[in-house]
Amino acid sequence: MFYLSHSSQETKKFAIEFALKLSMGTVVALEGDLGSGKTTFVQGLAEGFGIKDIVRSPSFTLMNIYPFQSVDSEKHYFVHVDAYRLDSAAKLEETGLDEWIGRKDAIIFIEWPERFELPIAFDWKIVFAYGDEEETREILIRHLLSHKDSYPT
Ligand SMILES: Nc1ncnc2c1ncn2[C@@H]1O[C@H](COP(=O)(O)OP(=O)(O)OP(=O)(O)O)[C@@H](O)[C@H]1O
Ligand SMILES: [Mg+2]
Repeated sequence: MFYLSHSSQETKKFAIEFALKLSMGTVVALEGDLGSGKTTFVQGLAEGFGIKDIVRSPSFTLMNIYPFQSVDSEKHYFVHVDAYRLDSAAKLEETGLDEWIGRKDAIIFIEWPERFELPIAFDWKIVFAYGDEEETREILIRHLLSHKDSYPT
């Protein structure tokens, strides 16, 4: 799947649309240069799941968790991690992310997975790149069908 975005609003709109394709228990990698739009996309995803909180880059906490309710009124969790701010892959353990992986009531988004070799099997990989104009961004989405194909490939 490929999107060409012309503004941050459009990136959010694409993310809201894409959120419909995501099922609980999946892990999504968001790769790409600084400022390429990963967090903006995650903000749109959160909106797509009906989350009202303002989604910001996890900084000191390294991982942000936003509870939300699905249509069936079950409690779910939107987990947002930014590996850019980790000193090492080992630090990832300190975030407690492990406990969230594999849970059927959580959906996980990890920015900067390419920074370390993470022992995580991703279900989706989204790659962001700057376009030709200042506000254009190329967003390439790939469903990783088998975990053999997970990051790094
Ligand atoms: N089409 C676009 N889509 C997304 N963001 C855009 C677009 N055009 C301009 N921008 C701007 O680019 C910046 C993207 O920032 P954002 O935090 O989403 O990037 P990021 O990839 O998460 O960066 P980082 O690697 O630092 O986490 C914002 O300031 C946003 O307003
Ligand atoms: Mg970011």
